[in-house]
Amino acid sequence: METKKQSESETYVERMVLPEDMDIYEYLYGGRLMEWIDNCASIVATKHCRKRTVTGSIDSLFFLLPIHLGDMVILHGYINYTTKSTMEIEIDVIKEEGLTGIRRYATKAYLTYVAIDSDGRPTEIPQIVPETDEEKRRYQDAEKRAEERRKRLESIKQQLASMVP
Ligand SMILES: CC(C)(COP(=O)(O)OP(=O)(O)OC[C@H]1O[C@@H](n2cnc3c(N)ncnc32)[C@H](O)[C@@H]1OP(=O)(O)O)[C@@H](O)C(=O)NCCC(=O)NCCS
Repeated sequence: METKKQSESETYVERMVLPEDMDIYEYLYGGRLMEWIDNCASIVATKHCRKRTVTGSIDSLFFLLPIHLGDMVILHGYINYTTKSTMEIEIDVIKEEGLTGIRRYATKAYLTYVAIDSDGRPTEIPQIVPETDEEKRRYQDAEKRAEERRKRLESIKQQLASMVP
C-alpha cells in the first residue's frame, strides 16, 4: 500500500478581494469563497494522489465574518483522512484586513474528494499516515465524520431514488 505524508500536499492559497468578487451589498460573495475553497481543496487532492479527482461533498459551511474589498483571504488546505478512494480535505479560511494586517478565522470547510479513473470510477489512492500528535488527532476526528457522512450519503441516495423530478 502506497503511503504519503500530510505535509506533501499541504497548500496555502492567498487571494485579494477585488470588485468582481463582491455581492450587491459589498460583501465578498459567498459563492466566490466557496469556489476558492473548492479550488484549494482540488490542489491538495491532486498533489496527494496525482490522479483525476472530483468533489463528492462539502460539509456545512458557516460564514462567520464579513469580508470586504481589499481584504486578503488565506486558504490553508490539508488532508485529514483517506479511505481507499476518498480524501477528507480541510480548508481553514483566514481573513486578513488589507489596511491593518489583522487576521481572524472566517470559516472552515471539510470536503470529500473522490479519485476517479479514466472511466469515472473510484480508484485507489495513497493512504496518509499521521505522524504528529496534531495529525493523529485530526485523523481520528475525521474518521468519525467520514462514518457519519457515509450514513448521510446512503440516506440521501435512498430519498432521491424514490422521488421523481
Ligand atoms: C463521486 C463519484 C465518483 C462516486 O462514484 P460511486 O460509484 O457512487 O462511488 P462508490 O459508491 O463506489 O463510493 C466510493 C467511495 O466514495 C464515497 N463517495 C461516493 N460518493 C460520494 C459523495 N457524493 N460524497 C462523498 N463521498 C462519496 C463513498 O462513500 C465511498 O467511500 P468509502 O470507500 O470510504 O466507503 C460519483 O458519484 C460522481 O462522479 N459524482 C459527481 C462528482 C461531481 O461531478 N462533482 C462536482 C464537480 S467536480
